[in-house]
Amino acid sequence: MNPIFKRQSVRKYLNDEVTSEQIENLLKAGMQAPSACNQQAWEFIVIENPDDKISISKMHKFAKPAGEASKLIVVLGNLKKAKIESMIEQDLGACCENILLQATYEGLGAVWLGFHPIRDRCDRIVEYLNIPDYCIPFAVICVGHPAGDGDVKIRFDESKIHYGKY
Ligand SMILES: Cc1cc2nc3c(=O)[nH]c(=O)nc-3n(C[C@H](O)[C@H](O)[C@H](O)COP(=O)(O)O)c2cc1C
Repeated sequence: MNPIFKRQSVRKYLNDEVTSEQIENLLKAGMQAPSACNQQAWEFIVIENPDDKISISKMHKFAKPAGEASKLIVVLGNLKKAKIESMIEQDLGACCENILLQATYEGLGAVWLGFHPIRDRCDRIVEYLNIPDYCIPFAVICVGHPAGDGDVKIRFDESKIHYGKY
Protein backbone atom coordinates (compact mmCIF):
# COMPACT_ATOMS: atom_id res chain seq x y z
CA MET A 1 0.00 0.00 0.00
CA ASN A 2 1.07 3.58 -0.63
CA PRO A 3 3.02 4.68 2.51
CA ILE A 4 0.99 7.91 2.69
CA PHE A 5 -2.01 5.87 3.82
CA LYS A 6 0.01 3.62 6.16
CA ARG A 7 1.98 6.33 7.96
CA GLN A 8 1.15 7.08 11.55
CA SER A 9 3.08 8.48 14.48
CA VAL A 10 4.90 5.64 16.25
CA ARG A 11 5.98 6.42 19.80
CA LYS A 12 6.79 2.93 21.16
CA TYR A 13 9.69 0.94 19.79
CA LEU A 14 11.40 -2.43 20.08
CA ASN A 15 15.04 -2.54 21.18
CA ASP A 16 16.26 -3.43 17.67
CA GLU A 17 18.69 -1.06 16.07
CA VAL A 18 17.91 1.08 13.06
CA THR A 19 20.94 0.71 10.77
CA SER A 20 23.08 3.52 9.39
CA GLU A 21 21.96 2.47 5.93
CA GLN A 22 18.31 2.91 6.91
CA ILE A 23 19.08 6.34 8.37
CA GLU A 24 20.84 7.28 5.16
CA ASN A 25 17.75 6.26 3.19
CA LEU A 26 15.60 8.49 5.40
CA LEU A 27 18.01 11.38 4.89
CA LYS A 28 18.02 10.80 1.13
CA ALA A 29 14.22 10.99 1.18
CA GLY A 30 14.33 14.16 3.30
CA MET A 31 16.75 15.83 0.91
CA GLN A 32 14.52 14.89 -2.03
CA ALA A 33 11.80 17.25 -0.77
CA PRO A 34 10.72 20.31 -2.73
CA SER A 35 12.00 23.67 -1.47
CA ALA A 36 11.49 27.30 -2.40
CA CYS A 37 13.92 28.26 -5.19
CA ASN A 38 15.29 24.75 -4.69
CA GLN A 39 17.22 26.21 -1.77
CA GLN A 40 17.68 22.89 0.10
CA ALA A 41 18.78 24.77 3.22
CA TRP A 42 18.33 21.74 5.45
CA GLU A 43 20.96 20.06 7.61
CA PHE A 44 20.67 17.13 9.98
CA ILE A 45 22.18 15.83 13.21
CA VAL A 46 21.87 12.07 13.74
CA ILE A 47 21.80 11.07 17.40
CA GLU A 48 22.31 7.55 18.74
CA ASN A 49 24.00 8.11 22.07
CA PRO A 50 21.55 6.88 24.79
CA ASP A 51 22.33 9.77 27.19
CA ASP A 52 21.70 12.32 24.47
CA LYS A 53 18.41 10.64 23.53
CA ILE A 54 17.29 10.74 27.17
CA SER A 55 18.28 14.40 27.50
CA ILE A 56 16.30 15.29 24.38
CA SER A 57 13.31 13.28 25.63
CA LYS A 58 13.19 15.65 28.62
CA MET A 59 13.29 18.85 26.60
CA HIS A 60 9.52 19.14 26.53
CA LYS A 61 6.36 17.43 27.66
CA PHE A 62 5.73 15.65 24.36
CA ALA A 63 9.32 14.60 23.63
CA LYS A 64 9.28 11.28 25.55
CA PRO A 65 9.53 9.01 22.46
CA ALA A 66 13.10 10.31 21.94
CA GLY A 67 14.25 8.31 24.96
CA GLU A 68 13.08 4.99 23.49
CA ALA A 69 13.86 5.46 19.81
CA SER A 70 16.85 3.75 18.21
CA LYS A 71 18.01 6.94 16.51
CA LEU A 72 16.98 10.57 16.26
CA ILE A 73 17.25 12.89 13.31
CA VAL A 74 17.38 16.56 14.26
CA VAL A 75 16.22 18.59 11.27
CA LEU A 76 17.82 22.03 10.99
CA GLY A 77 17.33 24.96 8.66
CA ASN A 78 20.55 26.79 7.81
CA LEU A 79 19.60 30.45 7.32
CA LYS A 80 22.98 31.19 5.73
CA LYS A 81 22.07 28.79 2.92
CA ALA A 82 18.53 30.13 2.46
CA LYS A 83 17.64 32.19 -0.60
CA ILE A 84 14.07 32.89 0.59
CA GLU A 85 14.29 32.74 4.36
CA SER A 86 10.56 33.25 4.90
CA MET A 87 9.82 29.96 3.12
CA ILE A 88 12.29 27.79 4.99
CA GLU A 89 9.68 26.41 7.42
CA GLN A 90 7.63 25.11 4.53
CA ASP A 91 10.70 23.46 3.00
CA LEU A 92 11.56 21.81 6.31
CA GLY A 93 8.00 20.58 6.79
CA ALA A 94 8.13 18.86 3.41
CA CYS A 95 11.52 17.41 4.32
CA CYS A 96 10.19 15.99 7.61
CA GLU A 97 7.18 14.45 5.92
CA ASN A 98 9.42 12.77 3.33
CA ILE A 99 11.48 11.27 6.17
CA LEU A 100 8.33 9.95 7.87
CA LEU A 101 7.05 8.43 4.64
CA GLN A 102 10.38 6.75 3.92
CA ALA A 103 10.39 5.33 7.46
CA THR A 104 6.95 3.83 6.81
CA TYR A 105 8.13 2.45 3.47
CA GLU A 106 11.09 0.79 5.23
CA GLY A 107 8.81 -0.80 7.87
CA LEU A 108 10.15 1.53 10.56
CA GLY A 109 8.16 3.64 13.00
CA ALA A 110 8.73 7.35 13.43
CA VAL A 111 7.29 10.41 15.07
CA TRP A 112 7.89 14.12 14.47
CA LEU A 113 8.66 16.06 17.65
CA GLY A 114 7.94 19.77 17.29
CA PHE A 115 10.58 22.29 18.38
CA HIS A 116 10.55 25.40 16.16
CA PRO A 117 9.07 28.00 16.75
CA ILE A 118 8.54 27.31 20.47
CA ARG A 119 11.25 29.40 22.13
CA ASP A 120 12.07 27.39 25.26
CA ARG A 121 12.24 24.10 23.34
CA CYS A 122 14.55 25.66 20.74
CA ASP A 123 16.80 27.23 23.39
CA ARG A 124 17.26 23.87 25.11
CA ILE A 125 18.19 21.88 22.02
CA VAL A 126 20.39 24.66 20.59
CA GLU A 127 22.43 24.77 23.76
CA TYR A 128 22.63 20.99 24.20
CA LEU A 129 23.70 20.22 20.63
CA ASN A 130 25.82 23.30 20.08
CA ILE A 131 23.67 24.40 17.14
CA PRO A 132 24.95 27.68 15.64
CA ASP A 133 22.70 30.75 15.82
CA TYR A 134 22.15 30.76 12.03
CA CYS A 135 20.42 27.35 12.18
CA ILE A 136 16.77 26.80 13.12
CA PRO A 137 16.24 23.63 15.21
CA PHE A 138 13.10 22.73 13.31
CA ALA A 139 12.11 19.27 14.56
CA VAL A 140 13.37 15.98 15.91
CA ILE A 141 12.30 12.79 14.15
CA CYS A 142 12.43 9.71 16.40
CA VAL A 143 13.03 6.47 14.50
CA GLY A 144 12.78 2.88 15.67
CA HIS A 145 11.22 -0.49 14.98
CA PRO A 146 7.52 -0.22 15.87
CA ALA A 147 6.47 -2.09 19.02
CA GLY A 148 3.02 -2.84 17.59
CA ASP A 149 0.62 -2.20 14.75
CA GLY A 150 -1.76 0.68 15.07
CA ASP A 151 -4.87 1.35 13.09
CA VAL A 152 -4.57 4.11 10.55
CA LYS A 153 -7.79 6.06 10.15
CA ILE A 154 -8.52 7.47 6.73
CA ARG A 155 -9.16 11.19 7.13
CA PHE A 156 -10.66 12.07 3.78
CA ASP A 157 -13.43 14.57 4.42
CA GLU A 158 -15.39 15.88 1.50
CA SER A 159 -16.73 18.82 3.52
CA LYS A 160 -13.24 20.37 3.51
CA ILE A 161 -13.12 20.67 -0.25
CA HIS A 162 -14.30 23.74 -2.15
CA TYR A 163 -14.57 23.79 -5.91
CA GLY A 164 -14.15 26.99 -7.85
CA LYS A 165 -14.69 29.43 -4.93
CA TYR A 166 -14.89 29.13 -1.14
C1 LIG B 1 4.52 20.16 13.67
C2 LIG B 1 4.28 18.87 14.41
C3 LIG B 1 4.69 18.75 15.71
C4 LIG B 1 4.49 17.56 16.41
N1 LIG B 1 4.98 17.43 17.67
C5 LIG B 1 4.85 16.27 18.33
C6 LIG B 1 5.46 16.08 19.60
O1 LIG B 1 6.14 16.97 20.12
N2 LIG B 1 5.31 14.89 20.23
C7 LIG B 1 4.58 13.86 19.65
O2 LIG B 1 4.49 12.80 20.28
N3 LIG B 1 3.97 14.01 18.45
C8 LIG B 1 4.11 15.17 17.77
N4 LIG B 1 3.59 15.31 16.51
C9 LIG B 1 2.82 14.22 15.92
C10 LIG B 1 1.32 14.52 15.94
O3 LIG B 1 0.85 14.44 17.27
C11 LIG B 1 0.59 13.52 15.01
O4 LIG B 1 1.07 13.68 13.71
C12 LIG B 1 -0.92 13.73 15.01
O5 LIG B 1 -1.46 13.44 16.28
C13 LIG B 1 -1.63 12.86 13.98
O6 LIG B 1 -1.34 11.50 14.21
P1 LIG B 1 -0.60 10.59 13.11
O7 LIG B 1 0.76 11.18 12.87
O8 LIG B 1 -0.53 9.22 13.73
O9 LIG B 1 -1.39 10.63 11.85
C14 LIG B 1 3.81 16.47 15.78
C15 LIG B 1 3.40 16.61 14.46
C16 LIG B 1 3.66 17.77 13.77
C17 LIG B 1 3.26 17.87 12.31
